[in-house]
Amino acid sequence: MEQMLSGKHAVITGGSKGIGLAIGELFADHGAEVTLVARTADDLDGAVERLRERGATADAIQLDICDKAAVGEMVEGLGADFRCDVLVNNAGPILQGAPVLGSEDRKWLETFDTKVMGAVRLSRALAPSMPADGSGRVINVSGISGRSLLPEASASGMSNAAVTAFTSYLAEELKGKRINVNCISPGLIATQAWIDRAEERGAALGISGEAFMDRMAEDLGVHLARWAEPREVASVALFLASDMGSYVTGQVIAVDGGLANFVV
Ligand SMILES: NC(=O)c1ccc[n+]([C@@H]2O[C@H](COP(=O)([O-])OP(=O)(O)OC[C@H]3O[C@@H](n4cnc5c(N)ncnc54)[C@H](OP(=O)(O)O)[C@@H]3O)[C@@H](O)[C@H]2O)c1
Repeated sequence: MEQMLSGKHAVITGGSKGIGLAIGELFADHGAEVTLVARTADDLDGAVERLRERGATADAIQLDICDKAAVGEMVEGLGADFRCDVLVNNAGPILQGAPVLGSEDRKWLETFDTKVMGAVRLSRALAPSMPADGSGRVINVSGISGRSLLPEASASGMSNAAVTAFTSYLAEELKGKRINVNCISPGLIATQAWIDRAEERGAALGISGEAFMDRMAEDLGVHLARWAEPREVASVALFLASDMGSYVTGQVIAVDGGLANFVV
């Protein structure tokens, strides 16, 4: 197989599970050294093991990206020789929301702190260690609720819209370093977190988790009439991380099977 990321070092937040782990696996298969970032040590150990079993050089950083001081300590620990070629800001909760009226501040702030401020903190921390030769990449993972109205998605929707805006501002700011900054906006992606949630919600309706997910894809009008596998998001991340995406910056790419129905 052609190795599209040989010699590159990728740091992936939320890399222990779901979309982040799928990105880590595909990047590893394409020759990248991969560092996974998340809070739960056991999950990180398992994920690193999976990458090493594929022959990759992989390690993990146990970090809560909401903890500004811990992010600072991480950077000090990395040392002056550390080089990050590709930063994937992916960590965050799956769809969060409630009716705006009567909602609690906590849910909104937690989602915002992880998805938006987490991406800001990690970009601030690692951009100085990125190359200025046109090969550096930042890839933010937002979510389609930031561009398209979904039911019960207010907290995620607001944060995802902010991640989109952050992508534009960071792309402008890092143009001097020739770092391409883009955003992937996933739709319905069948990660374990969603499979578990669907089981719960399906049970409450007396249907299986699978039937709940099928119904959700139908109700939301997904053109491709199905959920995506996490690797279908990873393949777009690979394009953006590699030389194939060399002339793409400041963009948002929806990976949503047609859910959002944009005219342009
Ligand atoms: N799945 C979808 O359908 C979908 C759709 C649109 C957008 N998205 C977005 O895609 C991203 C990944 O979603 P997913 O479905 O793959 O979720 P997931 O399977 O629940 O994985 C989330 C990852 O983020 C990590 N994480 C969460 N909070 C963190 C924190 N404060 N510091 C460090 N790591 C943290 C988790 O590990 P720890 O809990 O151990 O820290 C885990 O590795 C999220 O940003 C989500 O909003 C997903």
